[in-house]
Amino acid sequence: MISGVIETRALTKRYGAQTAVDRLDLTVPPGSVFGFLGPNGSGKTTTIRMLMGLIEPTSGSAHLLGHRMPRATPTVLPHVGALIEGPALYGFLSGRDNLLRYDAADPTADPRTRRTRVAAALDRVGLSSAAAKKAKAYSLGMKQRLGLAAALLQPRRLLVLDEPTNGLDPQGMREIRTLVRELADDGTTVFLSSHLLDEIEQVCTHAAVMARGRLITQGTVAELAASTRGRLTVTTPDPADAARVLKDHGVSDLTVTADRVTGDPPPTDLTDLAELNAALVRAEVRVRGFGLERASLEDVFVELTGEGFDVAG
Ligand SMILES: Nc1ncnc2c1ncn2[C@@H]1O[C@H](COP(=O)(O)OP(=O)(O)O)[C@@H](O)[C@H]1O
Ligand SMILES: [Mg+2]
Repeated sequence: MISGVIETRALTKRYGAQTAVDRLDLTVPPGSVFGFLGPNGSGKTTTIRMLMGLIEPTSGSAHLLGHRMPRATPTVLPHVGALIEGPALYGFLSGRDNLLRYDAADPTADPRTRRTRVAAALDRVGLSSAAAKKAKAYSLGMKQRLGLAAALLQPRRLLVLDEPTNGLDPQGMREIRTLVRELADDGTTVFLSSHLLDEIEQVCTHAAVMARGRLITQGTVAELAASTRGRLTVTTPDPADAARVLKDHGVSDLTVTADRVTGDPPPTDLTDLAELNAALVRAEVRVRGFGLERASLEDVFVELTGEGFDVAG
């Protein structure tokens, strides 16, 4: 039974002795903005290439919109817009002419509405004013937008975007995030890869975390963040006393600075945290601030892999 817009089962790709993607089980629910997160070399692009039918899996299966890939590529691809690493552009053509050509290659696209469609796509990615420039004169970010415009020429049920904000400045990144939200509001499922944690947290409803070709975890972004508890932080002019009291109450891995103590809270509920605060006050520790810092996906990643996020594959 296939319920996800994207479903993979034990999807595997080996290059010689190296396993780029290792028995991946992915389920992307309809209507989600799904973040495919992992450091460089963790197998994101390889997975996306298999999903799009560009390369054959070594073993396992991938379904897109309920159809087995790569077999169903001709049936499925008209409903899927994709932006994959380094979009193929003709450098000697303008951005607009690239899109006109791309649109002309789509047998389902009505030639009479081609110019309107291309203009709308250019506008959507903020390239209207650069539309007449040759693509070879585009910056990496502009090329990325042009690739995205190509994916947006037709209304799609699914958009697959491989590192869509790569090469963009912070303003460009914000624009892409806004665009992704708009597309999701229109009912398009968006699957996007990124090596940037905060980007996924800002725009995605769901996420899967990859490391070294393997799936570490997947779920809603809220669930993933909740699965890891944040650090307890106490701001106080009496850090040594505070640290002693916290330690007595089961707080571990304490870090003490001049005006702050942080640590991993014991596995208890929030009432017990109030009790912890009360214990500090009873011990005459002057508490200026007391709280749990929200766990980020980065904490989840570090907890699950024991690694920082900046590992290259
Ligand atoms: N065509 C290929 N031949 C050999 N190794 C490859 C090929 N494509 C990818 N790899 C390797 O597979 C691993 C995953 O790569 P990739 O999917 O590009 O990761 P990501 O997109 O997460 O950065 C890397 O170690 C990469 O070097
Ligand atoms: Mg990649």
